[in-house]
Amino acid sequence: MQISFSPSLPAGLDVLICPVFFDKKHPEISKYPKALQELIKSALKNKQLLEKAESSFDIQVYAPRLPKDIILVSLGDVNKLKKSTVRNAVATGIKMARAKSKKQVALYYAEELNSYSRVIGEVLLMANYLVARYKTGKSLEIEKKRIIAAMTLVTPHKAVIETELRKGMQVGAVVNTTRSLINDPPNILSARALAEHARTISKDAGLKCIVFEKKELVKMKMGALLAVNRASDSEEDDARLVVIEHLPNKNEKPIALIGKGIIFDTGGYDLKPSKHMGDMQTDMTGAAVIMGVMSLLKKLGIKRNVIGVAAITANLVGPKAYKSSEIITSYSGKTIEITNTDAEGRVVLCDAISYAIKQYKVKQIIDLATLTGACCVALGDRYAGMMGTDKKGMSLMRKMGRSTDDLVWPLPIHPDFEEKMKSKIADIKNTEDGYYAGASKAAAFLKFFVGKTPWIHLDIAGTAYTHDPKKYESILGTGFGVRLVSAYLEALEQQA
Ligand code: BES
Ligand code: ZN
Ligand code: ZN
Repeated sequence: MQISFSPSLPAGLDVLICPVFFDKKHPEISKYPKALQELIKSALKNKQLLEKAESSFDIQVYAPRLPKDIILVSLGDVNKLKKSTVRNAVATGIKMARAKSKKQVALYYAEELNSYSRVIGEVLLMANYLVARYKTGKSLEIEKKRIIAAMTLVTPHKAVIETELRKGMQVGAVVNTTRSLINDPPNILSARALAEHARTISKDAGLKCIVFEKKELVKMKMGALLAVNRASDSEEDDARLVVIEHLPNKNEKPIALIGKGIIFDTGGYDLKPSKHMGDMQTDMTGAAVIMGVMSLLKKLGIKRNVIGVAAITANLVGPKAYKSSEIITSYSGKTIEITNTDAEGRVVLCDAISYAIKQYKVKQIIDLATLTGACCVALGDRYAGMMGTDKKGMSLMRKMGRSTDDLVWPLPIHPDFEEKMKSKIADIKNTEDGYYAGASKAAAFLKFFVGKTPWIHLDIAGTAYTHDPKKYESILGTGFGVRLVSAYLEALEQQA
């Protein structure tokens, strides 16, 4: 989206998105052109626009010097304004404007919005995402016309808002790229393609990227990742371990971001019922999110050492597929009894975690994974489950969740769960017989490999994709986690 600034309402606009406040003392409306003020007053009088924040009203206008179409969105009381209101109200305006497929679109940038420029930058892009990328011909044309290509921001304060706005737009663009990766099915986004993507974004961001291919993984004895990969029968879908380095400081232990990169999860021989297999192309969300965050580090001025590690493979069925009862030796040397091939996420993650600990002596681990259906059952699509050992880190993560609306909610790992994950014949088993506390037991499995390194685990199974999008989302991949983890790292930076 191209952005331009105009200190006053330009002529020839098709659509104007106009935020309205309701504080009686608030002078903002009086700064709007007289004709617009009249329109707003009449919409209010006729209860077409409600004072309630985020309500909206669309007016067709036939007045000289006013845009043809004005979308009023309520921001409620100016004194109660908060990020979520701005996010939802601007997203509502954008979505309504998109539906009109018009070229000249503007947003009235009330002065009170100046301090929300980061959020607005993010949401301008996030609400403008094209999800139907694989339509063709006329249908694609129609979808593309619904994307706002250029937007004028009506404000005399360009100098005050531009830096934060553009930063927000960069984040929003990465959220959208992440969504496209999540949405791409495995015949389009193969293991190789996801690793290639990591290479491309690393190159663009000036970061080092190492892709370990299957041959190397065999030499490295990454037994857990390779076990899950066994049914994949083409070079295209051989397992990969992707490592992205952002190491500006010598002798500083990095923070490791670890992502689950299952490009499709059939469940393996413990096959998922078809009802649960739908959308399992999104099972690489963790990997896509950490790649997105890595690509943003320099742009967001993060000066700490950070590495991103993604374990990539599909989880398929076939003559060679790994089976229940197998004992596999992980990269750490610890043995895993496979009791359910559908609990593959924790199996691939343990090798990525052990690699980060062994090779980089990391000071903190943050992993993101669409790990358990149990987490969806517990928290739905509004909160990711957060578990781990790093209490201070988790408290900051929760705070940044509230700030970004990528919400997280703590779940416990009781020592009994850790006990239950022990195997009678190997060091650990990948599932436990009981039905309860599935998200926590998956975390207990990971904890066994994390050891003493401070650790935050985010189970994003419920938040990674949606069929009931929020105002700033589209169906399928949400990009949940990109803004959360970026904001977390930015907050750490400010503490330094
Ligand atoms: N990828 C799934 C988890 C998932 C479920 C993600 C629903 C998104 C939506 C994961 O690999 C899985 O299958 N987990 C099993 C674990 C079980 C076998 C202990 C599950 O949750 O059913
Ligand atoms: Zn699974
Ligand atoms: Zn999975």
